[in-house]
Amino acid sequence: MTFLRVMGFSVFILLVYTGFANILPQVQGDPPAEEEVDTGSLDMAGMISLGEQLFSGKGTCTLCHNKRLRAPDLLALDLAKTFPERLADPRYKGIAKSREGAQAIGDYIHESMLDPSKYVVAGFGKKGSGDTISQMPKIDSPPISLSEVEINAITAFLQDRAGISPTVALPSADETPTTPVANSDTGDEEEGPATTAVAALDKFSCTACHDLEGSQADIGPKLNGISKKQDDAKIAEAIINPNAEIAEGYEADIMPDDFGEQMRVSELNLIIDYLKNLPENQ
Ligand code: HEC
Ligand code: HEC
Repeated sequence: MTFLRVMGFSVFILLVYTGFANILPQVQGDPPAEEEVDTGSLDMAGMISLGEQLFSGKGTCTLCHNKRLRAPDLLALDLAKTFPERLADPRYKGIAKSREGAQAIGDYIHESMLDPSKYVVAGFGKKGSGDTISQMPKIDSPPISLSEVEINAITAFLQDRAGISPTVALPSADETPTTPVANSDTGDEEEGPATTAVAALDKFSCTACHDLEGSQADIGPKLNGISKKQDDAKIAEAIINPNAEIAEGYEADIMPDDFGEQMRVSELNLIIDYLKNLPENQ
C-alpha cells in the first residue's frame, strides 16, 4: 500500500518532469544582479557604458526596440541620420526644435523617453490614433521607473551611437542609481523567483505591452476573460511559445519568445492563476 503510494507519487513526479517540464521552462540563465554604482566618480565614458547596460537591462528598451521592429531598431539604425530627420519633420512638435546640433539630438532622445507622443515615428503609433499617440511607455513611471541620472545615461549612450559628444549633465556624488550588471561566473547574487503574480508580471515586463495592473498598455491584447477562451495549457503556451497561435487582430513576433528560458514553473503558475482571475469586463 505504502509502496504503491510511493510508486504513484513517483509516476506523478515523472510525468511532471517529462511531460510538463518539457514544454515548461527550466531554471536557467543569469538574471542581472543589482549593483550600486558610485556615480560620484562617473565620467562621460562611464555614463555611456551605464546607458548601454540600462538599454538592454533595467530600461527594458530592447523589449520593443529590436529587430522584430515592434519599435525603431535603435541599435541598428544609422542614428546620425535618423535623429536629424525626425527633428526636421514638420510633424515634430517637441522642445528640441529651439536647440541646435548635439544638444537638439540629446533633447530629442530625452523627450522620446519622457513624453513619447511629442513625436510618433510614422507607422508606430497606437492603432487608430493616426500616429499621434505613441505606444512607448513613459519610462520614468512603473514598471520601468528610471531615475533622471539613468535617463541621462541612456541619452549619452544614444548620442554616442549617433556619433556626437554627449551633452548630458554628469551626476553629482549623491545621486546614486542602482543598475543591473551582468552576473559574472563567480557571482552568486542570482535574482530569486518572484513570489507574487504582480512581482512576476513586473519582472517580465508583461505590463509594458498588456493592460495589466493599470498600465493601460495596448501593444498586446487585453487579457481579461482569457480563461473563457483558453484552458491553462493554452494560456501557458501563449506565454512560452507566443508564435504558435497569434491572437486575432495582432501580429506575430512582437511578444518576446524567450520567456521559456527565463521563467520558473512557479512564476508561470502564478501568472496563469492571476490571468484566470482577472475581472472579465474591463
Ligand atoms: C513597450 C515598448 C517600448 C519600450 C519598452 C521602449 N520603447 Fe521606445 N519606442 C517604442 C515605440 C513603439 C516607438 C515609436 C513611436 C514613437 O515615436 O513614440 C518608440 C520610440 C522611441 C524613440 C524615438 C525613435 C526614433 O526613431 O525617433 C526613442 C529614442 C526611444 N523610443 C527610446 C527608448 C528607450 C531609451 C527605451 C528604454 C528606456 C525605450 N524606448 C523603451 C516602444 C517602446
Ligand atoms: C513586447 C510586448 C509584449 C510583452 C512584453 C508581453 N506580451 Fe503578451 N502579447 C503581446 C502581443 C502583441 C500579443 C498578441 C500576438 C500573439 O498572440 O502573440 C500577445 C499575446 C499574449 C497572450 C495571448 C492572448 C490571447 O488572447 O490569445 C497572452 C496570454 C499573453 N500575451 C501574456 C503575456 C504575459 C503573461 C507576459 C509577461 C510574461 C507577456 N504577455 C508579455 C505582446 C507582449
